[in-house]
Order: sequence, then C-alpha cells, then structure tokens
Amino acid sequence: KWPAEVTIKEVGPRDGLQNETDFIKTEDKIDWINLLSKTGLSYIEVTSFVNPKWIPQLADALEVASKIEKVPGITYAALVPNLKGLEGAMAANVDEVAVFMSASETHNRKNINKSIDETFPVLKEVVGEAKKAGKTVRGYVSTVFGCPYEGTVAIEEVIKVSETLFEMGIDELSLGDTIGVANPRQVQEVLAQLFKRFAKEKLAMHFHNTHGMALANVLASLEMGITTFDSSLGGLGGCPYAPGASGNLATDDLLTMLDGMGISTGVQREKLTKAALFIQEKMGRKLNSHYLQAFNPS
Ligand code: HMG
Ligand code: MG
Repeated sequence: KWPAEVTIKEVGPRDGLQNETDFIKTEDKIDWINLLSKTGLSYIEVTSFVNPKWIPQLADALEVASKIEKVPGITYAALVPNLKGLEGAMAANVDEVAVFMSASETHNRKNINKSIDETFPVLKEVVGEAKKAGKTVRGYVSTVFGCPYEGTVAIEEVIKVSETLFEMGIDELSLGDTIGVANPRQVQEVLAQLFKRFAKEKLAMHFHNTHGMALANVLASLEMGITTFDSSLGGLGGCPYAPGASGNLATDDLLTMLDGMGISTGVQREKLTKAALFIQEKMGRKLNSHYLQAFNPS
C-alpha cells in the first residue's frame, strides 16, 4: 500500500524565508543551504528571482545561488516569475527553474500583478527559454484547495492552469495548498480528477500547515500514489501575498512520519537536525515544527 521511497523537495531557503521580515544575512543563507546539501536531500529550492521590492528577503538571490557549494547529484532550483528572473537564474546557473501562478484570479493578481490569462504567455516564454538552455522546469499552481480572497476554488480552474503549464513543457507540477486549508478527503478528490489527465509521477504536493492538517494531507496523497512532497525545514514559511498563510509542512516532521512508516527518503536525521538548529539560531526564535518544539539537546 505504501511506497518504498519518497522524494522530499526542500523549499525552506525560498518559501521558508520569503515571509521573514528580518533580513537573514546572505552568508547565513549560504551556510544553511550548504548544511542542507549534506543531509541527503536530493532537491533544494535555494531562492527566488522575483522583484526585490516584492520580496526584500530574497534580494540577494544571485549571490546566494552563485555562491553555494553545489553537491553533484543534488538539484538546485530557483523560483522565477518572468524572463528577467530567468536571466538571474541562468547567471547563477541553477539546475532547475520553477515557474508559478495561481488557480484563483485574485491571488494570482496579488502575487504576480497579472490576471491568469496575462500570465500564460509570460510563463510560456520562460519555460521555452529555460528548456532551450537545458534546464528542467517545475510548475507551481497555488491556491489549489482554497484562496484567501475567493474562498473555494473550482477544480476546473486547477485543471485549466495545470493543463496549460504542462502544454508549455514543464517537467513536474507542484500543487500548492497555499493557505493550508485542504483536508484529506478534498486532497483525494482533487487528485482523482487530476489523475484522469496527468501522470501521478509528474505531480508533487506542496502543503502548508496553517490548520495542522499538512501531514494528514500527505498521508491522503501517499494513499493515492503520490511520492514527491515539498516541505520547509522547521516549518518556516508562507506566502506574503496570502494573508493567513502560515508555515509550510516541516521537513523534520515529514521525516518523522516517513521514517516511522519505513518509507525511505535518503535524508539523515542528525544532519537535518544540525541544519535546523543552525537556521533556528539565526532566526533567534524557536521554530514551529513539532520536531524542534520537542527537541531537547542532550
Ligand atoms: P510588476 O511590478 O508587475 O513587474 O511585478 P513589471 O514587469 O511591471 O516591472 C516592474 C519593476 O520590477 C521593474 O523595475 C522591473 O525591472 C522589476 P523598475 O523599472 O520599476 O525599477 N522586475 C524585476 N526585478 C527583479 N527580478 C524580477 C523582476 N521582474 C520585474 N524577476 C512581478 C511582477 C512578477 C515581478 C512581481 O509581482 C513579483 O516579483 N512577484 C513575486 C511575488 C512572490 O515572490 N510571491 C511569493 C512566491 S509564490 C508562493 O509562495 C506560492 C508557492 O510557494 C506555492 C504555494 O504555496 O501555493 C510557490
Ligand atoms: Mg508555498
């Protein structure tokens, strides 16, 4: 019933940090990513090349993505909203580019200042150029399970955006529960609809833990045969353009569940804890994950 292996995609340096108001020093971001590279993770989203006026925390994207020590075998990815962002990602020579948009009109506009229809041609160009340059491309759909401005999001909207992104040539689609409102039944119902159109191997789940349901939703996804999950170490994160969005699913908590279930991830607990304690110290506060809340150094 359960998969033997699951891929964890660490989005902490991007999704985790983008919501933090106090600027984390560039060298600390780099040191943190270098620690993450030693944990056995195979995928790290390291930053985003967006307008620094919108996300000041990641204004140092080029420096971070250029100066990290890249370990062979790990995919280093960056979020990119348009061609200008792609230029930065190419200059830093990331392995993978992630484009993003929302299934709901209002969140899309608040987050990237365009309607859904205006976004398609922009992303089409980005995906085309990135593929031409030999990069793999990930697509994110946000507000799949609910929108902070519009409430319920119709499955037809999710399908339309997903289909269009796949037509552009993305290699993988990450389904975002941006504000953490999904429940396990809804997750299974949405996935059942998407599986009619897309291969499950090409889908990843991106849960936020606002209402404490992220792990339940992971379990529901595992039952459906999904084997790729995004998470953020310590449970850091959220989208600044989604009021109420709190932390991502915590990588350390996800590991607790998967390790306990005997599902292999390749991630080593002790090294992950080291990276978690490092960023916790830099943040100057105890992070939200259950693992860190319960952690007592002996
Ligand atoms: P805009 O203002 O409409 O852009 O913003 P524009 O094209 O009109 O340009 C305006 C200015 O921005 C110009 O500079 C451009 O050069 C500059 P000026 O001439 O005024 O000096 N600019 C840029 N600068 C740096 N990098 C760029 C870039 N593009 C334009 N790439 C834009 C449109 C998309 C840029 C803006 O809305 C933006 O940056 N949005 C990003 C918001 C964001 O990062 N949100 C969080 C990530 S999404 C998320 O968290 C959800 C996810 O985790 C999944 C889930 O949980 O659901 C992925
Ligand atoms: Mg997110």
